[in-house]
Formats: sequence, structure tokens, C-alpha cells
Amino acid sequence: MVVLKYALPVLAAASAVFAADCGSGDTIKIENQSDLEKYSSCKTIKGDLKIEKQAEGELSLNGVQQIDGSFTSEGAGNVTSISAPELSSIKETFHLNGLTSLSSLKMGSLTKVGSIEFTALPQLQSLGFEKGVTDAGDVHIANTGLTSLDGISLKQVGQLDITDNRDMKKANVENLKNATGLMNFAGNSESLKISLPNLAGAKNMTFRNVSDASFPSLEKLSGQLGFWGLKFETFSAPNLTETGDLVFKGNEKLSNISMPNLKTINGGFQITRNDELKSLDFPKLEQVSGAIDFSGKFDEVSLGALENVRGGFNMQSTGNFSCGEFRKLRSDKVIRGSYKCEGGKSNPTSADGKSGASGTSNGKNSESSEGASVMNVANVPAMGMAAVFGALLQYAL
Ligand SMILES: *[C@@H]1O[C@H](CO)[C@@H](O)[C@H](O)[C@H]1NC(C)=O
Ligand SMILES: *[C@@H]1O[C@H](CO)[C@@H](O)[C@H](O)[C@H]1NC(C)=O
Ligand SMILES: *[C@@H]1O[C@H](CO)[C@@H](O)[C@H](O)[C@H]1NC(C)=O
Ligand SMILES: *[C@@H]1O[C@H](CO)[C@@H](O)[C@H](O)[C@H]1NC(C)=O
Ligand SMILES: *[C@@H]1O[C@H](CO)[C@@H](O)[C@H](O)[C@H]1NC(C)=O
Ligand SMILES: *[C@@H]1O[C@H](CO)[C@@H](O)[C@H](O)[C@H]1NC(C)=O
Ligand SMILES: *[C@@H]1O[C@H](CO)[C@@H](O)[C@H](O)[C@H]1NC(C)=O
Ligand SMILES: *[C@@H]1O[C@H](CO)[C@@H](O)[C@H](O)[C@H]1NC(C)=O
Repeated sequence: MVVLKYALPVLAAASAVFAADCGSGDTIKIENQSDLEKYSSCKTIKGDLKIEKQAEGELSLNGVQQIDGSFTSEGAGNVTSISAPELSSIKETFHLNGLTSLSSLKMGSLTKVGSIEFTALPQLQSLGFEKGVTDAGDVHIANTGLTSLDGISLKQVGQLDITDNRDMKKANVENLKNATGLMNFAGNSESLKISLPNLAGAKNMTFRNVSDASFPSLEKLSGQLGFWGLKFETFSAPNLTETGDLVFKGNEKLSNISMPNLKTINGGFQITRNDELKSLDFPKLEQVSGAIDFSGKFDEVSLGALENVRGGFNMQSTGNFSCGEFRKLRSDKVIRGSYKCEGGKSNPTSADGKSGASGTSNGKNSESSEGASVMNVANVPAMGMAAVFGALLQYAL
């Protein structure tokens, strides 16, 4: 800097002015392109950058490589395009909300973001993150026109919350190995196919109304795994050994759940209203710390390795299956809580008394250790289902 000053006094003076103007931690407010151009000599903007509501048209942030604070815009309904070709990092939140005309977001060098919050961006169909964002804390994308998650190339993520993106048909995050917060997909395109080929560990994962979900490497969840309204026939988690609550509810086409290595459920296990599911086989399942609650139209249930069910047991089906195996598990104290098992039941219900299947048949093979009363979820503290149903209600579609 000093050398430069002697060599090129005029330029140096100019750049000193710019340097002083790269932000001082305050929010830089942008109303138009000429406001942005003041920062074109800054490699790093120190502080937050905010695009104001009244901005319009195409905005381009040139020269800047890093923003030390956040990049935000709320309600700038006339901005059509934002580009920042050299920007590689946004330290804090990248938050865009209500940019209802934004159709182009080009940040070809962006790889690191504190967190992403994109909401109400109906015209935005793709993320121009050519290099791919590989580092981000939480990612929340709702109500956008995005057709895929291309551009999100994370290895690790906190929350991944992808909801109400009606045109989103594809969510492939090839590199993602671990999700440490809630992963939730709901209300996106009915034909959404999710592929997370390398995901090994996660906390909670909930999926609603998706056409495919593939997690071939998934080994362990510390929280719940739940599926509602799936649109496909086979769900397979070949490497999954352990999870919290496990729920399959209202998946009308699902005919095969394949979890050949599942050993431990640290919570409740509910399967209900999956009318095409005829056979249930969890060959290595040993421990369920909550309740088992299966209702539907199945003919066969095989839980050959079961050692310990700490919560209750409710199994009701229209199908022709025998409760003999479970009666024995009950008398052997493998099943410790309340017990109800009924095959050939015309109106099978889940433990909370809700209908477990559509259609009817004749009742037979009924048995219960507690008269006719159905196990009460509230009496099973380890079950943890309340959280699951709470989450479901939140996204009641
Ligand atoms: C850009 O916005 C600034 C206020 O941030 C204003 O002073 C300036 O006149 C505007 N320039 C143009 C070309 O509209
Ligand atoms: C967008 O432009 C229209 C027409 O010029 C104007 O009426 C409206 O207030 C602008 N919206 C915002 C958020 O500034
Ligand atoms: C995922 O990350 C969490 C928190 O950093 C860690 O405890 C867990 O072991 C990781 N799981 C895998 C499979 O890498
Ligand atoms: C599944 O687990 C096995 C044994 O740990 C491992 O060798 C295999 O690569 C895993 N499969 C996938 C798709 O991650
Ligand atoms: C995550 O799962 C745990 C255990 O199943 C549950 O208690 C918690 O409420 C869940 N959190 C969210 C955000 O769904
Ligand atoms: C999502 O799936 C559920 C269960 O199958 C269904 O009741 C609901 O109508 C579906 N929602 C949409 C938006 O299709
Ligand atoms: C269920 O799916 C698994 C994995 O795709 C497959 O190996 C198995 O044969 C299927 N079972 C039935 C009954 O179709
Ligand atoms: C029900 O199952 C029993 C034994 O598993 C079998 O003998 C009987 O024929 C079955 N009934 C029907 C209607 O499938």
C-alpha cells in the first residue's frame, strides 16, 4: 500500500477512499446499481449488505469476493436478477424473501455460506451456483420456483428444510454425508425424487408426498425417521441399523419396506394406513424402546429377532395373520407394555384409535391382554410419537 502510494499517488488516493468504504460493520443499504458499484474495488465487504425494497431490475455486485456479514433482501418485488460473479463466501445468512420477480440468481463462485434462507421466490427456477455451495449451516428453501437443488453441493448440513416448492422434481445432493439438524421435505412437487447417495448419518428426517427417496448409505439417525404420503412402492434403507421414532403413515402405494439391518429403534415404531403393504419383515430388529403400533391390511409380520419392546404393542390388520408369535413374545416378557393383537379385523386401528386402513372385512383371531381397550399412547412415555404427530400437523396439506 505504501509503495503504491509513492508510485501512483492519484490511484492510491482513490483506492484509499474505496478501502475506507468497504463497510465498517454497519449495514450497507443498496437501492440501485450505482450503489453497488461503489464497492467494486472491495474484495471483502465488512458488514451486512442489504438490497432495499425499492431496488429494481438487474443488480450486479462485481469485484467483491467475500461478505463478512449477511446478504439480505426482503420484499424487493421489482428486482429481476442478482449476480455476483466473484463472490465466493458469505459469512452469515444469505436471506432472500419476497423477491417475486427474481428469475436469475448467478453466483458462479459461491462455495461458502453461513446459512441459506430463500423464501417466496416464485420466479426463481434454478440456482446459478455453478461451482456449488459446499459449506453451509442451515438451508431453508420454501415457496420458490426451483425445479431442483442443483447448486447445493453440501458435504454436511445442519437443518435442510425444503418445503412448498411446487415445481421441485429433483433433489440430488451427491456429496452430503451428514445432516445434524432436521431434514424435512414436504409440499414440493408430487413427483419429487430425492437422492442422497452418500448420506450416512442424520438427526431427524421427515418426508411427505415424495415420489422417490433413496438413501443407500444411511446408517444411523439420532432422531426420528418418518414417511407420509409417499408415492412409490419400495422403500429401502439397506444399511440403516439404528434410528429414533420410525413412522410410515398413509403411503398408499408402498408395498415393500426393506430394512434388512435395522437393529435398534430408540423410540416408537408405527406403520399405519399403508394399504398395499401385505408383508412386514424386519429380520434384525432387536430393541424398540417405545411402542410397536402396526395397523393395516397386512397378512404377514415377521419380527424374528425381537428381544425387547419397552412400550406397548398394538397390531391390527384386516389380513389373515396369526398372533401366536406375538402372544409368545408377550408371555416371554419381550413385549412389556400393554398388548393387543388382532388379525382379520374389519376396522383395524392404530394405538391412538385412528383408522389404520381403508375398507372392511370380517373380524376374527382377536386377542388382547387388556380387554377390548386399545393401548393408549399417553401411557407410554418412551414412545415419543407426539413429536412426530406434531410435526405432521404442522404440514397438514
Ligand atoms: C441510487 O440510490 C441512491 C440512494 O441509495 C441515490 O442517492 C442515488 O441517486 C440513486 N442513483 C440512481 C442512478 O438512481
Ligand atoms: C415495483 O414497481 C411498480 C411499478 O413501478 C411500483 O408500483 C411498485 O411499488 C414497485 N414495488 C416495490 C416493492 O418497490
Ligand atoms: C454426523 O455429525 C455429528 C455431529 O457432528 C456426529 O456426532 C456424527 O457422528 C456424524 N455422523 C456421521 C455418520 O458422520
Ligand atoms: C453399507 O455398509 C457396508 C458395511 O459397512 C459398506 O461396506 C457399504 O459400502 C455400505 N453401502 C453403502 C451404499 O454405503
Ligand atoms: C427429532 O426427533 C426427536 C426424537 O425422535 C424428537 O424428540 C424431536 O422433537 C425431533 N425434532 C424435530 C425438530 O422434529
Ligand atoms: C400428500 O399425501 C397425503 C397422504 O397420501 C394426502 O392425503 C395429501 O393429499 C397429499 N398432499 C398433496 C398436496 O397431494
Ligand atoms: C423388497 O425390496 C427389496 C429391496 O429392493 C428386495 O430385495 C426384496 O426382494 C423385496 N421384497 C419383496 C417381497 O418384493
Ligand atoms: C389364513 O391362514 C391360515 C394359516 O396361516 C390358513 O390355514 C387359512 O387358509 C388362511 N385363510 C385365508 C382366507 O387365507
